[in-house]
Amino acid sequence: MQILDGRLVAQTVKNDLKEKVDILKAQGKKTPHLAAILVGNNGASETYVASKVKTCAEIGFHSTLIRFEEDVEERVLLQKIQELNNNTDIDGILVQLPLPKQIAEEKVINTIAVEKDVDGFHPANLGKMIQGQAAYIPATPYGILLLLEHYHIETKGKHAVVIGRSNIVGRPMSILLSQNTPTGNCTVTLCHSHTRNLRDICLQADIIVAALGKPEFLTADMVKEGAVVIDVGITRVKDDSKKKGYAIKGDVHYENVAPKCSYITPVPGGVGAMTIAALMQNTYLAVTQNKL
Ligand code: GUN
Repeated sequence: MQILDGRLVAQTVKNDLKEKVDILKAQGKKTPHLAAILVGNNGASETYVASKVKTCAEIGFHSTLIRFEEDVEERVLLQKIQELNNNTDIDGILVQLPLPKQIAEEKVINTIAVEKDVDGFHPANLGKMIQGQAAYIPATPYGILLLLEHYHIETKGKHAVVIGRSNIVGRPMSILLSQNTPTGNCTVTLCHSHTRNLRDICLQADIIVAALGKPEFLTADMVKEGAVVIDVGITRVKDDSKKKGYAIKGDVHYENVAPKCSYITPVPGGVGAMTIAALMQNTYLAVTQNKL
């Protein structure tokens, strides 16, 4: 069993970006600038956004964090996005999800300019991605592809089972793995809450991507010997033995699944680290290929 070390691979991606940004700067070109919008005080969202801002600084990007109170009106948020769309110094815009109930996520995503949508959530980006055109690929699936590529994991002809059909992970992941690309060409089964015989389907999988958001859902009896297991889950579970009062759990029961796998991602230190690296990669593309 080999661990897919997301921190290590993310560091490689970030080092590479830092070198490229240093070159841009030396050439007197624009420094990539990411604007992140955070609404409210959700603990996990605070952590993710702080990590994105910190990573920008590490690799020499500019970043701007814009915060709104939990009860912000939708029109105020949309107005801010329009302002960022029109600001030529801003290259990428992300609005951290989830958003409070009074705000329609769909409207927010649709308002972000397609060429600044470095999360790749805008329908125009997803549409281009589906057709294999140049597009921003949502950061988590993109990060997983970078991980598979780094470890030279063969995907061609493999049966990939994706559990979870969210717009930001499961569904784009299922499409990307099915495409005719070096990290694609899988036969893909996309499973969700209405899937029957999930265990039997998972037992047929060469690659499992668990992205349903249920801690330790995937257990050893659902995994074939030698499978590749990618764990997208990052749920905070109350744990008084930890200083913060919670532990981070993936969607995979790591201790019992890991011995059966050829490769597995740990949590933390797996997919999460790659998500941020992939977002940075998209932000760099926003500057250098501003036609996406
Ligand atoms: N919430 C969970 N994952 C993501 C992500 O990749 N981007 C944004 N904006 N919000 C998220």
